[in-house]
Amino acid sequence: MGLNKKTVDDINVKGLRVLCRCDFNVPLKDGKITDENRLVAALPTIKKLIADGGKVILCSHLGKVKTEEDKKTKTLAPVAARLSELLGQEVKFAADPEVVGPNAKAAVEAIKDGDVILLENTRFRPEETKNGEAFSKDLASICDVFVNDAFGTAHRAHCSNVGVAGLVDTAVVGYLMQKEIDFLGNAVNNPERPFVAILGGAKVADKLNVISNLLEKCDTLIIGGGMAFTFLKAKGYEVGNSLVDDTKIDYCKEMMDKAEKLGKKLLLPIDTTVADSFPNPIDAEIAVEVVPSDAIPADKEGLDIGTKTAELYADAVKSAKTVVWNGPMGVFENPILAKGTIAVAKSLAETDATTIIGGGDSAAAVNQLGFGDKMTHISTGGGASLEFLEGKELPGVAAANDK
Ligand code: 3PG
Ligand code: MG
Repeated sequence: MGLNKKTVDDINVKGLRVLCRCDFNVPLKDGKITDENRLVAALPTIKKLIADGGKVILCSHLGKVKTEEDKKTKTLAPVAARLSELLGQEVKFAADPEVVGPNAKAAVEAIKDGDVILLENTRFRPEETKNGEAFSKDLASICDVFVNDAFGTAHRAHCSNVGVAGLVDTAVVGYLMQKEIDFLGNAVNNPERPFVAILGGAKVADKLNVISNLLEKCDTLIIGGGMAFTFLKAKGYEVGNSLVDDTKIDYCKEMMDKAEKLGKKLLLPIDTTVADSFPNPIDAEIAVEVVPSDAIPADKEGLDIGTKTAELYADAVKSAKTVVWNGPMGVFENPILAKGTIAVAKSLAETDATTIIGGGDSAAAVNQLGFGDKMTHISTGGGASLEFLEGKELPGVAAANDK
């Protein structure tokens, strides 16, 4: 199922002012970018717009901006500097507290064909996250064409990805957006079978609709991470001090019934790595043991899948032709509790199947553990890829012109 939206290949922006919304919401530490995957992923579209001879105006949000103080640390200036290096051409930073104020407008006036500028963090404008009209109009006033390549933000309906799109004649998607939707969309709606989906992460509540939707689409659904304990409790097992959401026990029962009715395999941990308590600090050395998942001691906390479970999950991956993975299997930030996540990552790295990693923590885990280049596709969207896997329409995508 392809994306039925106009793309940058359907237009030529020669001599035009093109506003390109990217997701440059990258982690920063002391002003340094610690993971530049989102910048690298944005380059093909930016290069295409430059090659066309467009006047390229980039924009993005960065983090959450709630106070004046936040504005000091959440400027996009470091992104402009790094993008200049990655592109091999200057990306002029249009510093402006109003994002599209006098400074930015002057920078847009001065821009020549093939030049690139980057606007300040769109969330410096309070209307941004409310999709308020004034800021959308400001953005529309400085461009002739709008390109949305911010897949990571596509689940938001904000001025810079949705509002502005409705105020310009031409609103298309970029290559990254297209690639993400192609990979995720094919995996979910047209998978080569068997299709195995692996879900992990801390909370069931974050993945309710994903579990339900993927059960309908996949052949085998694998559950790991903290969310598995609510399922185990729903089966009537003792889970000790493990993370449980008591309000979701009935939901887990429902999902287990649903799997049975649909004839789908739903795999839960058969053994669990437990400790006395959560590691503090998170990467502290910790004494662990592996116990059967139906016999977790009442005074212990489950923090990773066990060795037998890792084998079981790896076997399921071995026979798959399509694998989608979202969420770590345990507290992967701790080397002792990363074994389950590593085992699953390894099984994905070793298979010939199409392997797709939902963004956020799973992408971070796969990259940190050194398996990044072994995966077919690693999404740049955390929340966005989850909402896509839920089967929801993404407002950022919907706002672009249809083909
Ligand atoms: C993300 O990283 O989740 C996206 O960039 C969206 O950011 P947000 O969650 O702050 O809206
Ligand atoms: Mg987010």
